[in-house]
Amino acid sequence: MLISSDGASEWWGYKPVDKTPRSVSSCSSRESEQGRFTSPTSSSRESSMASLRSALQGLGASRRCSARPWFLTRIRANTFRAFSTNLSPPSRAFVYEQHGPPDQVLRMIDLPPVEVKENDVCVKMLAAPINPSDINTIEGVYPARPQLPAIGGREGVGEVHAVGSAVKSLSVGDRVIPSPPSFGTWQTYVVKEESVWHKVNKNVPIEYAATVTVNPLTALRMMEDFVKLNPGDAIVQNGSSSMVGQCIIQLARIQGVQSINIIRERPGSEELREKLKKLGANEVFTENQLEVKNLKSLLDNIQEPVLGFNCVGGNSASLVLKFLRQGGTMVTYGGMAKKPITVSTSSFIFKDLSLRGFWLQKWMSAEKTQDCRVMIDHLLSLVQRREIKYEMELVPFCNFDTALNKALGKLGSQPKQVLTF
Ligand SMILES: NC(=O)c1ccc[n+]([C@@H]2O[C@H](COP(=O)([O-])OP(=O)(O)OC[C@H]3O[C@@H](n4cnc5c(N)ncnc54)[C@H](OP(=O)(O)O)[C@@H]3O)[C@@H](O)[C@H]2O)c1
Repeated sequence: MLISSDGASEWWGYKPVDKTPRSVSSCSSRESEQGRFTSPTSSSRESSMASLRSALQGLGASRRCSARPWFLTRIRANTFRAFSTNLSPPSRAFVYEQHGPPDQVLRMIDLPPVEVKENDVCVKMLAAPINPSDINTIEGVYPARPQLPAIGGREGVGEVHAVGSAVKSLSVGDRVIPSPPSFGTWQTYVVKEESVWHKVNKNVPIEYAATVTVNPLTALRMMEDFVKLNPGDAIVQNGSSSMVGQCIIQLARIQGVQSINIIRERPGSEELREKLKKLGANEVFTENQLEVKNLKSLLDNIQEPVLGFNCVGGNSASLVLKFLRQGGTMVTYGGMAKKPITVSTSSFIFKDLSLRGFWLQKWMSAEKTQDCRVMIDHLLSLVQRREIKYEMELVPFCNFDTALNKALGKLGSQPKQVLTF
């Protein structure tokens, strides 16, 4: 059942930024697929229409039927298909028109059908994660940002629903991911050019196909690109419970590289230690356990690490540096604690440490698209062979607010939130 959202502030737990009614749905995704949309009240219709129009202008500009009256945009998807075969179904999306806290600026909107042009592929989304970079993009603090208004999300997986007349490589029913990731996956139907989509094996669980690029590929590249690791070498990382961290543990295990893992002290840290050990972690320490003078005394039969990964910053990054051996390298790829990295003078003079950074987006330049897809297939084959796994929670799209609150850390430490459609 769909309800108009006079009670939106109650549903979302905050006051909406504008008075535009937001439609919220129960968990019947079937109903939303069938196009049972809310009807804005007449007083709100104009502002709703204005914001929808402006949203559409930013979401592919002329590709969207921006001039269509709201009542036409809200009729059933299959009615449209009866008129024309080159329109997508309407799409339900989480859109932001300004940067700010995601739980305040995002709102659900029903978008009208768009034309599926000759080189386009219309994909019915199946799953899409909420990654820290999605949150930072909406906050406006991520360097790569789409033009506003924009639909949230960047990676995901879907099934081809319709193809344009010139599309050769994909057919209806194929399972695809946007590769490289592409803005706007938090919506039920996405229309983008054929070249955006990469076909993946249908035997891979959707949550893995939806999440394979941003985090596992980052882990893979960082293990390859900075220091040549040999079996018996060791690495150290913080944020080890993150999806990237879990992948690093397993990629290290596959290469015969030992891993020292730092997690933060929080409820469930003992259970987490056991989980990470089952993935292949050699050592797991909470930050508090590392408040000792001689870190090396904590290591049994593990070499001093040659390479470290930091996605936290602050004291946690200092701990990574302390573990590193003479001439070691620390790669920073995230800043979850939002605290700067402090490096002691002696780290440079006496240990000659190197500090590097990694940003997948920069690495994934246009020329790397094909390489990137080969690596994604490799990672998905590791998933299929159960050599890589990571924790995720699947959440129906209609429960977006809960998933978002969890991803924002408002409900304590949580597994990666993956929206299902
Ligand atoms: N540079 C790149 O190209 C690139 C690519 C991918 C990801 N990243 C970055 O990598 C990091 C991990 O991403 P992910 O998607 O793998 O993470 P994730 O699965 O969403 O997990 C979040 C991680 O952050 C930790 N965390 C959350 N708030 C924290 C805080 N205030 N202080 C310390 N730790 C905190 C969590 O620890 P608990 O388990 O204890 O809650 C958990 O380990 C993010 O910073 C992300 O932006 C960067």
